[in-house]
Amino acid sequence: MIAKTESTEPEALPPPLYPDYLPHYDPLESVEMVGPFEHDEPGLRADKSCPNLLKGATQVSELSPHCGTEILGVQISKLSKAGLDEMAYLCAERGCLVFRDQDFVHIGFEAQKEIASHFGPLHKHGWMPHPENGPAEFVIVYDSKDDLRIRKSWSRKSPIQFHVDQSPELQPPGLTFFCMLESPPGSGGDTIISSMSRAFDRLSPSFRRRLEGLTAVHTTANPIAREIRDNGNLAVLRRPITKAVHPVVTIHPVTGRKSLFVNSSYTQRITGWDDEESDMMLRFLFDHVTRGQDFACRVRYEPGTIVVWDQRCTQHSQTLDYEAGGRRHAFRLTPLSNVPIPSKIEEDDGACARDNERVILNLC
Ligand code: SIN
Repeated sequence: MIAKTESTEPEALPPPLYPDYLPHYDPLESVEMVGPFEHDEPGLRADKSCPNLLKGATQVSELSPHCGTEILGVQISKLSKAGLDEMAYLCAERGCLVFRDQDFVHIGFEAQKEIASHFGPLHKHGWMPHPENGPAEFVIVYDSKDDLRIRKSWSRKSPIQFHVDQSPELQPPGLTFFCMLESPPGSGGDTIISSMSRAFDRLSPSFRRRLEGLTAVHTTANPIAREIRDNGNLAVLRRPITKAVHPVVTIHPVTGRKSLFVNSSYTQRITGWDDEESDMMLRFLFDHVTRGQDFACRVRYEPGTIVVWDQRCTQHSQTLDYEAGGRRHAFRLTPLSNVPIPSKIEEDDGACARDNERVILNLC
């Protein structure tokens, strides 16, 4: 009897489910910036009871107390303009919304763009890939045995890096669509989304007042340097470095709530502070966000899951916890929104004194 020999060939991956959305990297391509525009905030037009958004919903459940609501039974592709306005309102309130089994992934590039454009002109990314025969507004997130480029760009001691997509824009994104086409087998590849309103509220009153009125420089310089370091001559550099100065604490135009608006991917320094002071403060704030599991939610994907997050009151991070080689394939559409609104330092309503008392009485 001849013994069967085990094949040492690595198992071939099945072909991608969405070949039209495969990433395309063209080192010679360039894209235009959107430029200044008047933002017409959809969330301000919404009926706050969300009748158009939720009329077919079979289940609406909170993912965590401070961030995230999952809505079942609603197809984004079928929503009226009023329904989309209500989506903007609810997303501003909850930070992110999760929709399952969406036919949105099948309606084609132009229809997808049209729906996302309801929330603002679509951003074109400076280095992330788009589909070869698809519009530059699509950001493709593709991690697979046959393309480990994004995995390389996220490789650090920990892949967790909370950020706002493209905060160095003069008008950074608001509501953003992240659409999962194929998720790795088993578990893994979740996105963690965290409430920056809650992150701000959790700071002591006198500390909050110290942050209000500050501004910080946001720049794409570091991610672009990383793209060059990782990919050399094949680096995609479609746009020059983008830079903007934004308030450290911003006001959401829909909810009026204050949010922390610095992130570890793009915020370089606090304006007017010496490097050591700025580094110390930013390191504290980035750690505060990363440790804040109590104001974050974790979204698990299935093919056809769409997460909509509002970048003005949340940050998010990839997890990259599944085995290298498993395919994770998604696309993002990123509408730009308002110029960040600075929070005003409020009159002291006694909160700082109460804070001091808590310290004196050792109640903290
Ligand atoms: C992103 O930052 O837009 C992607 C997040 C993810 O891949 O989970």
